[in-house]
Amino acid sequence: MKRVAVYPGSFDPLTNGHLDIIGRGAALFDELVVAVLQNTDKEPLFTVEERLRVLREVLRPLPNVRVDRFEGLLVDYVRSVGGRAIVRGLRAISDFEYEFQMALMNRHLCEDVETLFLMAAEAYSYLSSRLVKEVAKLGGSVHGLVPPPVEKLLAERYRSAAARKSKR
Ligand code: PNS
Repeated sequence: MKRVAVYPGSFDPLTNGHLDIIGRGAALFDELVVAVLQNTDKEPLFTVEERLRVLREVLRPLPNVRVDRFEGLLVDYVRSVGGRAIVRGLRAISDFEYEFQMALMNRHLCEDVETLFLMAAEAYSYLSSRLVKEVAKLGGSVHGLVPPPVEKLLAERYRSAAARKSKR
């Protein structure tokens, strides 16, 4: 039987920390589905389509990784793709409380889906999509923190935002 896991997230944007977790997860399962949450209350920087496009481009070399979107309950989505596990990355203790709550809520909703926490390489332990956006917005370099297509997209997004501001 094919062992399928789902790596869910906002991926707004994809970072090298996410990529590290994807590589580790893909090595453990027959198929890893990277699933982008849509219809979130959060105001995203990139549309779901932009995030899917970047993920598909960057993850093309990984044959057992598939990219998809989902809405509604994560466990329902995991069941719909025949998944048995949810993969999440853990960076520091600060991630733990939120992740612990989510994992137990997901277990309450669906007993037979396990959450598996993987530790990203130490080099990425401080990296988050939120900080990447902040640094890029303020003109700092995010080179080496995100894959090249994300670096390009961030530069375009903030360049056009700066241009709109200077016209006002
Ligand atoms: O990258 P993020 O924003 O930390 O990912 C959060 C995500 C997508 C994993 C989480 O918000 C989620 O699973 N949302 C789906 C809604 C759901 O199932 N909620 C109940 C279980 S906590």
